[in-house]
Amino acid sequence: MTAIDTIIVGAGGRGNAYGQFAMEYPQELNVVGVAEPDDLRRNRMVSFHDIAPDMVFNDWESVLQSDEKRSTAIMNCTMDRQHYESTMKMLNLGYDVLLEKPMSPILHENIKMVQKAEDDGRLLQICHVLRYSPFWEKLREIVASDVLGRIVSVTHQENLAYYHMAHSFVRGNWRNVESSGPMILSKCCHDFDILLWILKQDVVWLNSFGSLTHFRPENAPEGATARCTDGCPAAEVCKYEATRLYVRDGSDSFANHVSYIPTKEARLEGLKTGWYGRCVYDCDNDVVDHQTVNMELENGTTITLTMNGQSEEECRTMRWDGTKATLYGKFSALGNEITIHHHLSGKIEKVPVIDRDSSGHGGGDFGIVRSFVNAIQGKPDASITTARESLESHLLAFAAEESRLNHSVIYMPDYRKRVDAEARNMDI
Ligand SMILES: NC(=O)c1ccc[n+]([C@@H]2O[C@H](COP(=O)([O-])OP(=O)(O)OC[C@H]3O[C@@H](n4cnc5c(N)ncnc54)[C@H](O)[C@@H]3O)[C@@H](O)[C@H]2O)c1
Repeated sequence: MTAIDTIIVGAGGRGNAYGQFAMEYPQELNVVGVAEPDDLRRNRMVSFHDIAPDMVFNDWESVLQSDEKRSTAIMNCTMDRQHYESTMKMLNLGYDVLLEKPMSPILHENIKMVQKAEDDGRLLQICHVLRYSPFWEKLREIVASDVLGRIVSVTHQENLAYYHMAHSFVRGNWRNVESSGPMILSKCCHDFDILLWILKQDVVWLNSFGSLTHFRPENAPEGATARCTDGCPAAEVCKYEATRLYVRDGSDSFANHVSYIPTKEARLEGLKTGWYGRCVYDCDNDVVDHQTVNMELENGTTITLTMNGQSEEECRTMRWDGTKATLYGKFSALGNEITIHHHLSGKIEKVPVIDRDSSGHGGGDFGIVRSFVNAIQGKPDASITTARESLESHLLAFAAEESRLNHSVIYMPDYRKRVDAEARNMDI
């Protein structure tokens, strides 16, 4: 097999996660180009992959300026609001595209991208990485095997650790609907996707509730300062105090956002001026901090999905009740668990799940890159997240947001038709 050559666009957290695959499996993937405005990030990527000077760009616009394709594949790891314009151009130039989720925070842009990829016969694969981790593969296998019987109800929790909530959805990239998108889309399009993938049924009815309850100015401790580094009197009692959360040596995904320079000094400086030093009660955040979505499937199965940002541990937990057995699951970087309680025999069965490798999302980060590479080689796997399938998870998230804002119940068959017709009539 010849390695597929790719350009990585956006050398941040995700770009590096996928670049790592090329370093470990050079016979499968070769990073031949990078586009990134930040000097430090761009240079790191250049040195990791030994990229030729004429394939180093400051932004996605420069890569796509020439009408000539510069590689077979391209990985679009820019921020959410940049996805649409750049991806449409990439597809236009004939690249096979691996696109980060969410596809776009603008509803109709998602539909347009899928239409474009299908019309042009191009591969547009969305990074719903969970499909590629052994935990979710095992859960899908169990449900398909009928061990649980007919699934009657599913309770699925996306538990964000309190520090992750503050990092991403209060201080960081996904804090504001205008600049990123609704949180149920940013965080849970994965969850919608994985539920549909396992249950193989369409959602018919949906409603949703949720709000921003905690991260508001009225909840700030007495005398709290605008930045944690301003001598805040609440430093000792506030679990979001930034120096405690970020000032450390070494490279990790949270502290890197404050500064890629892996020293305490650089991180302290970063907190004095950057997003992550801000008081969590005094940010320009407006996305929710908890939301629940109720769904009914074609066959009557009901699902409750709860996303909350006050968890002690970052994990997804779930309960699947079937006519033969109940399954409890936990998907966590600290260890996965699947336990099946068989109703008739009373037997309690622990199902072992071992991550395939050490890449993020329980091995899903490498799994999706391999799947993308295989699909380009003409060998698409069964888990492939086609843009059309990914669109459905995005539509559910948008419908949930509409329901939450209007306190309405959404009939998905009508919703799908309405938004599809709107997109077709729209010139965006
Ligand atoms: N699949 C997942 O589980 C998962 C997890 C986290 C984030 N994401 C998504 O991945 C994407 C990237 O997130 P991230 O955490 O890596 O963010 P990040 O901020 O670490 O990386 C984005 C990078 O894009 C760069 N960039 C900005 N403008 C650019 C331009 N014009 N051209 C090229 N690059 C540009 C930024 O400088 C930055 O380095 C987002 O869409 C995010 O929602 C997906």
